[in-house]
Amino acid sequence: MEVILRGVRGSIANPAAETAYYGGNTACVELRSDGGALLFFDAGTGLREAGENLPRQGECHIFISHGHADHIMGLWFFKPIHSPDWTTHLHLPDKLERLPDHFYETGLFPVPFSALKGAIIRHSVRTGELVTIGAGKTKLELEPFAVCHPGGGLGYKVRADNALFVYTGDHEITGTAASLAEAGNILRGANIAVVDAMYRKEDYVPGWGHSAWEDWVEAAAGAGARNLVLTHHEPRRTDRELDALDNRLRDLARPDRLNMYVAREGMRFVPSGPIPFTRYGSDWLLLFLEEIARYRDINAVLDRILAKAREITHADAGTIFLVEGDELVFAYTHNDSLFPVDNAHRYAYAAVRMPLSRLSIAGYAAVSGQSLNLADVRRLPPGVQYSFNSSFDENTGYRTVSMLSLPFFDKSGNVSGILQLINSIDPRGGAPCPFTSSMEFNARLLAGQASSALEHSMQERKGIYGILRMAAVHDPSETGPHAERVGSVAAELYQRWAEKGEAVPDRERIRYEKNRIRLAAMLHDIGKVGISDLILKKPGKLTDEEFAVMRGHTEIGADILDDDASDIAALARDIALCHHQKWNGRGYPDIDGKAPAGESIPLGARIVAVADVFDALVSPRCYKNPWSFEAALDLLCREAGEHFDPVLVECIMDIRDMLPLIYERFPDTPQGGENTAGAGGAVSRGSSEGERA
Ligand code: C2E
Ligand code: SIN
Ligand code: SIN
Ligand code: FE
Ligand code: FE
Repeated sequence: MEVILRGVRGSIANPAAETAYYGGNTACVELRSDGGALLFFDAGTGLREAGENLPRQGECHIFISHGHADHIMGLWFFKPIHSPDWTTHLHLPDKLERLPDHFYETGLFPVPFSALKGAIIRHSVRTGELVTIGAGKTKLELEPFAVCHPGGGLGYKVRADNALFVYTGDHEITGTAASLAEAGNILRGANIAVVDAMYRKEDYVPGWGHSAWEDWVEAAAGAGARNLVLTHHEPRRTDRELDALDNRLRDLARPDRLNMYVAREGMRFVPSGPIPFTRYGSDWLLLFLEEIARYRDINAVLDRILAKAREITHADAGTIFLVEGDELVFAYTHNDSLFPVDNAHRYAYAAVRMPLSRLSIAGYAAVSGQSLNLADVRRLPPGVQYSFNSSFDENTGYRTVSMLSLPFFDKSGNVSGILQLINSIDPRGGAPCPFTSSMEFNARLLAGQASSALEHSMQERKGIYGILRMAAVHDPSETGPHAERVGSVAAELYQRWAEKGEAVPDRERIRYEKNRIRLAAMLHDIGKVGISDLILKKPGKLTDEEFAVMRGHTEIGADILDDDASDIAALARDIALCHHQKWNGRGYPDIDGKAPAGESIPLGARIVAVADVFDALVSPRCYKNPWSFEAALDLLCREAGEHFDPVLVECIMDIRDMLPLIYERFPDTPQGGENTAGAGGAVSRGSSEGERA
């Protein structure tokens, strides 16, 4: 079963700039059963759009909740009723059987009812009388129920495909205990319930036949419903106000796993929840560009581009490669089948490169600047130069079928990377399908529009590398790879810490903070530019006097970062100043006469303390040999509660299997620090010539 919201307004259509996002059409919900039945609940103005792309021949059922104009207006403009090969079953509540005649025969519409070309079959529906459509496994059973609305009306419970869909039409919860209990019964066990929530408590008008959303939230408690969709929005309700409602719903953490949504035109649901949402307009692209403009870290930008590209193409997996010299460097990947969402980012650190040549699929797209839309990578068109490398599939058991590869272009028109999407999955389940041409079109639009954000984030990283190169003139340990490793370990520690601490993690905030912390952590030792080489490069132990000078790198770093007002610089300053503070208060430098302890040390600095010491221990230094990962983690555990925040030590133990991936990705090499894809020097060269390894 799939449910599509076609019209979400009550009373009267209001298409306007301030309603464009949620939509201005009146009541209409489409339901498609797995067996192919097509049903509509109410025929408000949203019905028109739904009819535009239906075939000339076919059949549908329209269930009307009641005769108010906002629930029937769209019928006139439903294209199929003008097609001789289409049959419309019109299910009308008792006593409304004559409604179409009335509307068509009194001059409200130019074509009389009798002259419509399509077949229209009327049925009467009554409370308590089941309606069945189809038979056997594909049978749908509809149970009409009476609702509270002036003049009466019907809601419908639909059982099909082992799921329950509920539509209330217009229904007022009066706020009494009895009314709330009745509403709870309406919702009971529903997989998807689309309900009238025209009002907020503050503007609710008793007796007008509509509910306030707060009452539905209360009524839903214990009803065992899974997805509650609030619709029939007051026509003046602006997008901004509905956004505020959406935020409120997110904040209401529900122990009973009920998900609540503000209805939006074009939104689609399956019994388990919403299908990632693509609107037919192009506002998704504007919203996406606004979203990624907030991120400055290239990892975050890649993650968002890939997530959106997968959403609009229903791709099960995807990878972004960046062009570096004569190679394609694997920069980011997602794969839902192999690693579920909360683990996906681990594979961001896979260290894979392949030659920029026409022999691989991604290479061909990069060299030719063309997009390749392949329905089946094992049946390539005859005579093509490229071939599919199946080593990834062989190593993982994954099965790549369809693949869409398209280039990102930089400002000068050169290919800067490749977006590769794999296995477009029908959201209703089933085998991978080819990417459609509209998916390809949208993905190209996305890649084209997102490439400047990508370029900005590469420039940002280049800027940081530039600063680090200045520091590296003094201290060879302060290289790009060292900073990348500390930045990555700090970013992952932060994500783990945040997910541990929140019952319902706010992914968007975590992602934003993670982006900030990675960049800020990279600059933690920038103050070493102000320390003499004689001390920095001293092969042996520092004397007390020398170490006293050395400690000054924290304050020098903070001073350097002080005059930049950006929020990343503010965090970088905290980190530079406090990354040698200790949880027990015995770190440095003194601030207002005393070294801070515990949670009065900024979180970012506590995180970098763990990441930096880990990196210092496992790396060679002019004053020490590298330790093993185990020995380094042992030391961190011994120092939990002394040097380090004990929760963060737990976090690094939680992510310990990511550490080797990060270190493989950013090894110390003479070339380190030059590239912006985040990859270190020449790693794993030749380890894979494939699409992904
Ligand atoms: P770094 O090399 O990046 O080390 C960062 C931190 O890692 C050190 O902060 C320390 O907490 C930890 N660490 C590094 N090596 C070891 C080790 O072998 N054992 C243990 N238990 N911890 C270790 P710290 O001590 O505040 O030092 C800050 C910076 O001062 C170091 O940054 C390094 O640049 C310099 N430094 C510290 N000790 C020496 C030394 O003996 N000789 C020289 N040449 N430089 C030193
Ligand atoms: C990253 O910073 O690694 C990408 C963002 C994310 O994992 O959410
Ligand atoms: C992802 O979206 O793949 C990264 C996981 C996250 O957003 O936290
Ligand atoms: Fe330091
Ligand atoms: Fe460091």
